[in-house]
Amino acid sequence: MFNILPTTEMFSETEAIVFGLYHENKNHQPVYEQFNDALDGALDQYIQDGDISNDFKQISKIYTLNQTSAKRIYIVGLGKKKDLTPQRLKTAFGPLFKQLQKDQVNEVSFILDSFQTDAVSSVQATEALSEAMVIAPFQFEHFKTSNEKPGVKIESVSLLSDENKGALEKAVDKGYALGYGVNTARHLVQMPGNLLTATDLAEYSKTMATDYGFECEILDKEEMEELGMGALLAVNQGSTEPPKMIVMKYQGKDEWEDVVGLVGKGITFDTGGYSLKPKDGIVGMKGDMGGAAAVLGAMDIIGRLKPKQNVVAVIPSTDNMISGSAFKPDDVITSLSGKTIEVLNTDAEGRLALADALTYAKHHKAEKLIDVATLTGGVVVALGDWVTGAMTNNQEFFSEIDASSKVADEPIWQLPYNDIYKDKVRSTPIADLNNSPGRKAHAIMAGSFLAEFAEQTPWVHLDIAGTSNAEADYDLGPKGPTGVMANTLATYILNL
Ligand code: BES
Ligand code: MN
Ligand code: ZN
Repeated sequence: MFNILPTTEMFSETEAIVFGLYHENKNHQPVYEQFNDALDGALDQYIQDGDISNDFKQISKIYTLNQTSAKRIYIVGLGKKKDLTPQRLKTAFGPLFKQLQKDQVNEVSFILDSFQTDAVSSVQATEALSEAMVIAPFQFEHFKTSNEKPGVKIESVSLLSDENKGALEKAVDKGYALGYGVNTARHLVQMPGNLLTATDLAEYSKTMATDYGFECEILDKEEMEELGMGALLAVNQGSTEPPKMIVMKYQGKDEWEDVVGLVGKGITFDTGGYSLKPKDGIVGMKGDMGGAAAVLGAMDIIGRLKPKQNVVAVIPSTDNMISGSAFKPDDVITSLSGKTIEVLNTDAEGRLALADALTYAKHHKAEKLIDVATLTGGVVVALGDWVTGAMTNNQEFFSEIDASSKVADEPIWQLPYNDIYKDKVRSTPIADLNNSPGRKAHAIMAGSFLAEFAEQTPWVHLDIAGTSNAEADYDLGPKGPTGVMANTLATYILNL
């Protein structure tokens, strides 16, 4: 329950009240002064003693012993006021919501004024707050049979502000939608390969489509054969699980035009196939559908917020397995585009699945393409855990995605794409393309291969192999799948 109430409500009884504190003039911030006076100068004393910090992301908890209307005060350290941005504010709310959950607080009021600056509007502060509230204390579902206590959820949040209530309510809806979309993506990535097959992913998509009124088309194996999706089918060849090509359409305009295609790699488990991964490299490969999860997360957000845009989501899904029928190195396959591909490495399967999906998105009139994929170990070496690798065939389009990623606070970094790399993926005596020119620059080779299927359509590729999973708890979430790029994709669509 989210209430937006006038600031005079700060004198009503509540379990906890929250305000922000900057470095500058800490003794002359109005809310601070009010509570300091009510507590006979105790806050000043605590600051002197170092028990309250205004450093960025520091959370201080004060027990008021019934001297104020609130039982407890939580102070969020915001650092220098001039450095605050909506993104930094969202980050600072992370540790706060984790703390509130730990303390099992279920009723809390925020003094919104204290989080507003010249650079952060009340709407932006509200969005940051409501998104952080959804993603920071998120806990993964598990399959433990022991009775572990599920985390207590905050039941009642009040925003105290005298600003336009309607605008703030919208901001709450937006922050919530973004947060739930990210959590949707996290949840899907966390699901193990035996419990989330291509068929399960298709079922999940169908349910989402029904909930939001999307059009949904699921191609089965026979339909793919008829269409000639030889690249996705090759990856599936060794599996007992049937492949699915999942298509969801959201129409927010009168006509089906200016369509943005969101394409997500949906490999539900990647063994590497006959180019088998070493055993330590196989563990974790349930997460090889992180791109699909990001796209579904974005569609979840789009379904809730209903922007006036047209979006087609395309998810090629299968596992990559070994058996007598599996595809092999040296095989030559024909993609949906008609282009032939020499398979040099069956572990470079993501680009094969995505090749057919990019072409299929164009069949559905996508005029711009964004693909998201846990595509290469190379991008992890290059950029690490917190920066997503990006490539493009259209610099202007890239700038728009880059801007959205900055708003979402999901950093991306562009890798080069040029004729040298084009030549490499085209270099084979036996087919049009090869799927793996070798170890050097293989993150770029993977993207360059995809570019052959985007062709003239403006395209941005996002390689999330490094950013899809967090190795440890972080400000806005737990260790594990991050749901990265769901927010960026949705933000791009919402701001079109
Ligand atoms: N799914 C992997 C990439 C990956 C690696 C994702 C680590 C997450 C963490 C992808 O299908 C793959 O195997 N890529 C190969 C490409 C190589 C064969 C050219 C890789 O990166 O080693
Ligand atoms: Mn692979
Ligand atoms: Zn893979």
